[in-house]
Amino acid sequence: MYTSSIFLLVLLLCCTSLVYSSGYDENTLLKIKKQLGDPYGLGWWVKGFDYCNQSANVAPEYSQITCTSTGRVESLMLHNLYGPARSPLFPDGICGLTYLVVLDVSEVNVFGSIPSCITKLSHLVRLGIAKTYLSGPVPGFSGQTKPTNLTNIDLSGNQLSGTIPPSLFTLPKLDTLNLASNNLTGTIPPGILHTKNPALLLTNNSLSGELPKSYGSVEFSRIDVGGNQLGGDASFLFGKQKAQYIVLANNNFEFDLSYTEFSDNIYGVDLSHNKIYGKVPDSFATAQNLWYPNLSFNGLCGELPKGGNMWRFGPAVFANNSCLCGPPLPPCSNRAPAPAPAPAS
Ligand SMILES: *[C@@H]1O[C@H](CO)[C@@H](O)[C@H](O)[C@H]1NC(C)=O
Ligand SMILES: *[C@@H]1O[C@H](CO)[C@@H](O)[C@H](O)[C@H]1NC(C)=O
Ligand SMILES: *[C@@H]1O[C@H](CO)[C@@H](O)[C@H](O)[C@H]1NC(C)=O
Ligand SMILES: *[C@@H]1O[C@H](CO)[C@@H](O)[C@H](O)[C@H]1NC(C)=O
Ligand SMILES: *[C@@H]1O[C@H](CO)[C@@H](O)[C@H](O)[C@H]1NC(C)=O
Ligand SMILES: *[C@@H]1O[C@H](CO)[C@@H](O)[C@H](O)[C@H]1NC(C)=O
Repeated sequence: MYTSSIFLLVLLLCCTSLVYSSGYDENTLLKIKKQLGDPYGLGWWVKGFDYCNQSANVAPEYSQITCTSTGRVESLMLHNLYGPARSPLFPDGICGLTYLVVLDVSEVNVFGSIPSCITKLSHLVRLGIAKTYLSGPVPGFSGQTKPTNLTNIDLSGNQLSGTIPPSLFTLPKLDTLNLASNNLTGTIPPGILHTKNPALLLTNNSLSGELPKSYGSVEFSRIDVGGNQLGGDASFLFGKQKAQYIVLANNNFEFDLSYTEFSDNIYGVDLSHNKIYGKVPDSFATAQNLWYPNLSFNGLCGELPKGGNMWRFGPAVFANNSCLCGPPLPPCSNRAPAPAPAPAS
């Protein structure tokens, strides 16, 4: 009886101290701090710090941590960290936080590439590494221990190069993939995101080729591929049960808009600065939820549809096309009639 109480007491003391004073992930966090070059914002990360206690966090604008009930780091946010002048690499110590569900590193001056060990954090649901100086490839997710619950990847605003790894499209729950504002090249691989209304954001890269035809069967909540060197047809994105927000601006897309269907599904579409031709279809005026269109700087021609929602749209929506006319643009009748064929003499 006596010995078992002692045993219990020892057990209690041992485990309490493990969780609350030494902390399972303390050494890993201190390693991460060191790898980042001891930035000012992490000054309070010192031996024995109460990292699981959010009330003890004296600088939440630089870092935030939450823990599992057993004291393991479950989410880590690092933000706005600019260490001393030297250029630290991405702190691969983060890969030692094996219980991580949410990782969000943004506006941190790290250089080099994203270590592939990140893809082995098997519990990840959100992975955000944005607005850093990281270069090198987008990591692929093909390993045995890939995070199958991953729903959101944001790697925007870095300097990542190379092609988009097709293995991203094998993540079964991936719903938002944001690779905007990097230096990605090559064609977009044919895989799709498997959730009901995925968002794919690839703006401001150097992607080329055509959009995969498989995108015609996806009801994107948003597809944004503006500011690349993409071309060819994209008319298959339009229609019932299809994309709700489409940005194709600043590319070389070249297709006939006359036969596309603007359904009630769509609320935003930016086609500006492409080579899209044909006329603006009647469904453009009747698509009930369409509020944010931009068709400017294309090769569209002919009379604009009348009625419906046309009152919502100013001339800038249609400006700088080949020969569009009718309200809100100048009336078609004011245009010079087509020159009559020269009489044979
Ligand atoms: C968390 O930190 C606050 C502020 O330092 C402190 O008052 C509180 O007692 C701590 N909570 C626990 C459970 O240690
Ligand atoms: C994935 O999520 C489910 C449901 O929340 C959870 O039960 C499971 O443990 C998670 N898997 C991993 C590898 O984290
Ligand atoms: C990425 O692209 C930006 C803007 O186009 C350019 O300034 C930068 O040098 C490029 N970086 C790399 C690593 O290629
Ligand atoms: C893409 O680049 C343009 C021009 O530099 C900029 O105005 C726009 O905000 C960028 N878009 C995104 C999503 O980064
Ligand atoms: C449409 O796009 C052009 C070119 O990018 C831009 O100048 C214009 O302001 C946009 N108009 C509207 C209504 O969004
Ligand atoms: C675009 O159209 C406006 C209005 O017709 C015109 O003033 C402007 O010069 C055009 N811009 C270009 C780049 O063609």
